[in-house]
Amino acid sequence: MKITDIKKYLTATGELQKELFAESVRVRKETIGEDVHFRGIIEFSNYCEKNCLYCGIRCGNEKAERYRMTKEEIKICLAFIDRVKYGSVVLQSGELTSTKDKRFLLEIVQFIHNNYPHLGITLSCGELDFEFLKELYGAGAHRYLLRIETSVPSLYKKIHPEHHSLEKRIETLNDLKKINYQVGCGNMIGVPEQTIDNLISDLNFFQEMDFDMFGLGPYVIHEDTPMGNFENKKSWEENKEQIFQTTLNFIAMLRILLPSCNIAAATALDVFKPNGRIQALKAGANIIMPSVTPQIYRGKYLLYQNKPCIDEHAEDCSACTIRQVNAAKLNPVLGTPGNSLHYKQRNI
Ligand code: 5AD
Ligand code: SF4
Repeated sequence: MKITDIKKYLTATGELQKELFAESVRVRKETIGEDVHFRGIIEFSNYCEKNCLYCGIRCGNEKAERYRMTKEEIKICLAFIDRVKYGSVVLQSGELTSTKDKRFLLEIVQFIHNNYPHLGITLSCGELDFEFLKELYGAGAHRYLLRIETSVPSLYKKIHPEHHSLEKRIETLNDLKKINYQVGCGNMIGVPEQTIDNLISDLNFFQEMDFDMFGLGPYVIHEDTPMGNFENKKSWEENKEQIFQTTLNFIAMLRILLPSCNIAAATALDVFKPNGRIQALKAGANIIMPSVTPQIYRGKYLLYQNKPCIDEHAEDCSACTIRQVNAAKLNPVLGTPGNSLHYKQRNI
């Protein structure tokens, strides 16, 4: 596809946007079908070693109330995931570095692998070192989500502190591929000063790196962060609709360019519209990740403000997402891990 066409579609509205979604849905149907797979997500700790300028659980945010779930609490979540047959679990936290936290994660992965061998296991715990990633893979984790946030070095610098490194992030993504994880990446759409050309660079990066899964989403302001100042808040509020629509267009473009990948409908889309995630499924996504995090912790895992469903329980989210997927006339599939077709093809 020509750059001019990509630009046109990323900014599409009205009839052109309808055409774009018709094409992405056609491509999805032809490649992976209309199945929507579920991943129960457990946000097991909001401690983070990093200090990203946009994120509510950055280590510098002293207002964030920190928690770590216990093994027993995680086991209850796993039994729930098994009971409602989500088929996969995602373990997410801030970036882990201490030996104690790493050992804890390894033990949880071993527990899942031994007790629920049929469950897909995805990790999303930041830039871990090669040897430890290998150990986790050996223990049964087989998918890893690590967003690039932006592939553009100058923008990466603007939204991260000096010591965070884009090169290191790319190195970790390559490590994950070497180990043979199903690798998921993604970006944030709508960060201040991001341009359409920046988004085209992200699309190119995703194609070049040939990822298996995507979990991208809109940027949402958080007041207790350096990027959440009054000026940014005002322009974010003014651009909300555009950020939402650009995210949907980006998902549709990804589906067209990388047809056999798994693409998640980000929860952050529900900040913009009550059915935001469902609109993402209608634009070409095929994965939904209902929260299984216990209600007592949900209000503390705040990467961004106005996070949806913080008062709900895992049961509510299960019934609600299945109902929404049915209403969108898609096919909710329970009881299978829903691995990425792209990964399977890559490994033939
Ligand atoms: N808005 C949207 N997404 C955010 N993340 C962190 N902070 C925000 C925010 N303010 C996303 C990052 C990270 C993922 C775990 O959460 O993209 O990779
Ligand atoms: Fe930590 Fe991720 Fe938030 Fe950055 S975006 S501060 S790495 S949780």
